[in-house]
Amino acid sequence: MIHSTKPIDDATPLDDISGLKLPHNRMYTLKEIYEAEANNIALATLKYLSAPPSKKEAPFTYEWLQQLHQEMFGDVWEWAGEFRQVELSIGIKAYMVPTTLKELADDIAYWDKNRTFDIYETATRIHHRAVQIHPFQNGNGRWSRMLANIYLRQNGSMPVRWQEELLSKENLKQDEYIRALKKADSGDYQSLIEMHKHTY
Ligand SMILES: Nc1ncnc2c1ncn2[C@@H]1O[C@H](COP(=O)(O)OP(=O)(O)OP(=O)(O)O)[C@@H](O)[C@H]1O
Ligand SMILES: [Mg+2]
Repeated sequence: MIHSTKPIDDATPLDDISGLKLPHNRMYTLKEIYEAEANNIALATLKYLSAPPSKKEAPFTYEWLQQLHQEMFGDVWEWAGEFRQVELSIGIKAYMVPTTLKELADDIAYWDKNRTFDIYETATRIHHRAVQIHPFQNGNGRWSRMLANIYLRQNGSMPVRWQEELLSKENLKQDEYIRALKKADSGDYQSLIEMHKHTY
């Protein structure tokens, strides 16, 4: 068991690192863990965003939504792709996760087939619903932003540079992003939609 770490500026305090897959012969800083995650995520970025992914490659089914989290975090965390069993300050009740995520997969298929919204609004709604559900112990923000980007890329747009958008020094963008998510909670998607138009 590695003893981390002070909480950093992160929505999920890293108090449980027992599922860490990095070699257990030393301690890791949160920065090192974050970098290991980033290397893992880079593989998923390469797979899904370098060229437009087909519907076979990125089907947005219930199983694939889980698989994507596994692909993004599976080198670093044992619980990658597994639904959380605990309640968090963000997200629905843990026991509701499977059914609610299935509903989301069904809604995505319906929106996609019927062109209910334009692609930016569809990407926004996928992102927002996914992070509202918060299926996993951690990585929900990065996973849901990846989902939005994969949807955009699959539908003829380029991805959003979330990394650069959100890691600005003063955290202004971060605040703006959280504000936009909260507005979307009350049904006003416009600010969040605008953020999905800041593509490459
Ligand atoms: N009120 C809120 N405060 C902070 N995050 C929120 C809030 N509401 C929704 N979120 C979402 O939850 C994400 C954080 O969840 P989690 O820690 O599981 O994701 P992460 O990928 O590890 O973090 P990050 O998105 O910061 O890289 C935020 O990025 C954001 O998308
Ligand atoms: Mg986190």
